[in-house]
Amino acid sequence: MARAVTLIPGDGIGPEVTAAARRVVDATGVAIDWQVYPAGEDEFAKTGEALPQETLDAIERNYFALKGPTATPSGAGYRSVNVRIRQKLDLYANFRPAKSIPGASTRYENIDLIVVRENTEGLYSGLEHQVVPGVVESLRIITEKGSERVVRFAFEAAIQYGRRKVTAVHKANILKMSDGLFLNVARQVAKKYPSIEYDESIVDAAAMKLVLNPYQFDVLVMENLFGDILSDLTSGLVGGLGLTPSGNIGEKCAVFEAVHGTAPDIAGRGIANPTALILSAALMLRRMDEPHAAERVENAVRKVIGERKTVTGDLGGSATTNQYADALIAAMNT
Ligand code: NAI
Repeated sequence: MARAVTLIPGDGIGPEVTAAARRVVDATGVAIDWQVYPAGEDEFAKTGEALPQETLDAIERNYFALKGPTATPSGAGYRSVNVRIRQKLDLYANFRPAKSIPGASTRYENIDLIVVRENTEGLYSGLEHQVVPGVVESLRIITEKGSERVVRFAFEAAIQYGRRKVTAVHKANILKMSDGLFLNVARQVAKKYPSIEYDESIVDAAAMKLVLNPYQFDVLVMENLFGDILSDLTSGLVGGLGLTPSGNIGEKCAVFEAVHGTAPDIAGRGIANPTALILSAALMLRRMDEPHAAERVENAVRKVIGERKTVTGDLGGSATTNQYADALIAAMNT
């Protein structure tokens, strides 16, 4: 029986890259019943609501969702669709592997890192207020429960992906209470996984070490804002946002999406690189217990980008989004 997946095309290049990802997943032979639901800027313009309840319900009902990027206005306007989906559906772990793809030009080779970012707390709790005119306060929420489950998720991911080490990234020297709590919890959880090495790094030092020698890390786990920033850094180590997948995972459902945004500067021209979303779909297939299909997609990406013949403009080629997706499908079938 086909497995239902909620598909959210999103804004900007979203419809283009989701269409390509859908074709590539279908070509694996895994039967998917794609159920398309709206969210984002266009939906807000039409209805005054950027994230309809029916979309949230569909994500929860189907467990799996594949989401294109959605625009978020800076300053005034509606709240980020992503942050709302993560909080409303309690998608507490953001899973972001950063793996080198031979052929994508970067300064490093053979990078294979996993960043696990807490996804619902920290400074993204949306708790901001004006104390007095000219002074605004944003609350950074860290809880024992939130820290425990995300660190446990990181250790379980380490086991699932055959990793040797988990590093807790923090700023407990300055944020003694909040990051002190996170670190204490991390140490307790680590004791339950004696087969995995555990260490700690202060966030600013971790940023420097990741650039100097990324090979010293393996799985990194941290609170929300640190994870947002360092996972973009690790994306940069493997060729940028156009290549980096992610999964937002909770107990009740999981939403897979590219790390990049709506790319308004190239939207509608059919030239966006769909790799990040296609690799996100491969993460989804793995979580659906379809590892062979996931591997076929990942191998096709490595082959086509490695050959450098049919790649999109951001990778130095001239292929359209559809031509690149066709090349992936052809590579999967050889
Ligand atoms: P962006 O990631 O959309 O674009 C940054 C640069 O990277 C642009 O030059 C763009 O053309 C290029 N780029 C991004 N993805 C690409 C792809 N797949 N292929 C080729 N080139 C690509 O970041 P920006 O401009 O900061 O954000 C634009 C909008 O996207 C904003 O409204 C932002 O809130 C939203 N956004 C949404 C995200 C999501 O839904 N997951 C994540 C990040 C941003």
